[in-house]
Amino acid sequence: MESVRWAFRCGSWSPSCSEWLLAARCVQREEKDRIGQFVFAKDSKSAMAGRLLIRKLITEKMNIPWNEIHLERTPKGKPVLAKPVLHNISQKYNFNISHQGDYVVLAAEPGLQVGVDVMKTSRPGSSTTVDFFKIMKRQFTDHEWKVIKSAGSELKQLEMFYRHWTLKESFIKAIGTGVGFNLQRIEFHLSTKQMNVEEEKKDTKLLLDGEQEDNWVFEESCSAFSDPNPARFITLNFNDLVTSAIPLTEEDYEYWEHFQKKAESPSRQHTLVRD
Ligand code: COA
Ligand code: MG
Repeated sequence: MESVRWAFRCGSWSPSCSEWLLAARCVQREEKDRIGQFVFAKDSKSAMAGRLLIRKLITEKMNIPWNEIHLERTPKGKPVLAKPVLHNISQKYNFNISHQGDYVVLAAEPGLQVGVDVMKTSRPGSSTTVDFFKIMKRQFTDHEWKVIKSAGSELKQLEMFYRHWTLKESFIKAIGTGVGFNLQRIEFHLSTKQMNVEEEKKDTKLLLDGEQEDNWVFEESCSAFSDPNPARFITLNFNDLVTSAIPLTEEDYEYWEHFQKKAESPSRQHTLVRD
């Protein structure tokens, strides 16, 4: 059994009516309802793709028929396979998903805890980078801030910031604790400062309460506009997501009508100035 790393480029997915209706039939009813409630299409699409990725993993790698998979969430919100189904299987994968920017990603490991996080490097929407860093001050240690702020240009600092951010999130997501964890307890030490699109880095170290943790491996990869496939990840298309799917519910045309009316994402607010 090997590790699984899948990516789906949700940002460039404009679901057709038949794609969206099929996707909606292939997720559990409560997830379908949750996905339908997002205001913006980008959130509905990424949550939907995340569910399809998880179910694809379970059916194709753990050999559980799609319509027998029952997913539930831990009290902190992490999706897991429900216990009665787990009982009967010989091969068990742990998995986690993340969606942000253009991507939905899944990482899965047989027999190991796993967390994954993806972030797009972008300038903060409503403040300067300096103010944004001030707001985020308590999330990172003095050592981490030193590394972030010595990265060079504003963009390089933001890249370094998001690199640390995703490292922290991936750890929190692996242990499943969610936002309650004191982020000052974890400190990352990067051996290599520069990320390149075509390579994966595995040499970052974690200190937990000041002690180096050698039981965790941090894999980092990035993509660029010119090279959108992150190293190590297999990029899937919509047909790949549903190739093993067995619909769970009836077709619901209203679900498509509702989705179709959604704006892709919030538009930036403009302040009108009259003279
Ligand atoms: N542990 C692991 N995975 C979890 C989880 C938990 N406790 N709760 C939810 N997830 C999974 C879910 O699959 C979720 O997607 P879904 O709801 O569509 O199924 C997915 O993680 C969301 O991950 P991501 O897209 O990376 O979202 P996020 O980074 O906004 O949130 C949280 C991740 C919910 C686990 C949580 O860590 C959080 O809210 N973080 C806030 C951000 C923050 O302050 N980060 C500080 C970093 S420096
Ligand atoms: Mg995240």
